[in-house]
Amino acid sequence: MKILSVVGARPQFVKLAPMAGAMQQRGIEHVIVHTGQHYDVNMSDVFFRDLGIPEPDTHLAVGSGSHGRQTGAMLAKMDEVLEDYSPDWVLVYGDTNSTAAGALSAVKMHIPVAHLEAGLRSFNRRMPEEHNRIITDHVADLCLAPTDVALAHLTSEGLADRTVVVGDVMTDVLYQVRDAVAASDPDLPESLRGKEFHVATLHRADNTDDPERLRSIVASLAALDTPTLLLAHPRLRARAAEFGIDLQAGSLLTSDPLPYPQLVRAVMASTGVITDSGGLQKEAFLLRVPCTTVRTETEWTETIDLGWNALAPDPSDLAATINRAAPPPTDVAPYGDGHAADRAVDAIVAHTP
Ligand code: UD1
Repeated sequence: MKILSVVGARPQFVKLAPMAGAMQQRGIEHVIVHTGQHYDVNMSDVFFRDLGIPEPDTHLAVGSGSHGRQTGAMLAKMDEVLEDYSPDWVLVYGDTNSTAAGALSAVKMHIPVAHLEAGLRSFNRRMPEEHNRIITDHVADLCLAPTDVALAHLTSEGLADRTVVVGDVMTDVLYQVRDAVAASDPDLPESLRGKEFHVATLHRADNTDDPERLRSIVASLAALDTPTLLLAHPRLRARAAEFGIDLQAGSLLTSDPLPYPQLVRAVMASTGVITDSGGLQKEAFLLRVPCTTVRTETEWTETIDLGWNALAPDPSDLAATINRAAPPPTDVAPYGDGHAADRAVDAIVAHTP
């Protein structure tokens, strides 16, 4: 049995880690193809190093570009890779351009496709991630869904008979890393040590690419009483520089993205998370840190229903949402028990034609 994983962006490296481990335990041959969508060391290499992921077997080095160019460059290179390795399955992760390109290349070469984290929907057709999810779920032979909500979406799109709910693999990694770093000191800038602070990230095109919106979000964060550690994605840095927006204004403290264990440790030490990332909303909930999401909707609706996440679509509402009353304690576990990767690999094996 040979499974070929296609990954390219930061959240996919996190999901790859437990899948690579589960495949290794079962003696499955695992080929890793890195598209090169994320190429900065702190967006890519540190994840492989810190999460113990084997080196990629092939690197497509596509780099950045418009959606069509980036996705097209991946498609152009994938045929040869799939011919060379001739895998039994192609496994794609999440909702990036690398996900859609990997799935499309494989289905056209009649190689079975499994989609991990299938069935998420924001119902916002402006989001490139939403296009990627829908395309990928509908060409996949096996949809590995993280939650019952995801299963309900796939069912309503007629995909129930190719879906298995396995739980969320990001929970697997998070629990392992949380336990490993719990006793360590958070690696924080000097000025935040021993203080209350928020952790923030912003990278979605809808937030970063509109100058007025970005200016207004940054101004709201800068005006907060509690300092905010803003871990700046390269897209955010690039747009802020282009629009002349100061990311160190007021109570903001901006630094580069953190390696995953340090990010988890920083969130554990923080009083709240402010983000537009999908993964971080869920990680905040799993670590029981209140989250404010700078978007009009979220795919992880369980975090909202349980009171641990709140949407702040309008930047002028950010402060009030961040400073809301603490959520009620809960021990509900909508994202599984930390063994999703085992179930996902077993499902792939069981569905092998
Ligand atoms: C991508 C995914 C998104 C995911 C996110 C996680 C798509 C459409 N979006 O968004 O679903 O949540 O990754 O981070 O696939 N850049 C660098 N160095 C890097 C990577 C990117 O400088 O290592 C810069 C480039 O200027 C690039 C920009 O960041 O143009 C955006 O990168 P891109 O891969 O297009 O999308 P993300 O915003 O990272």
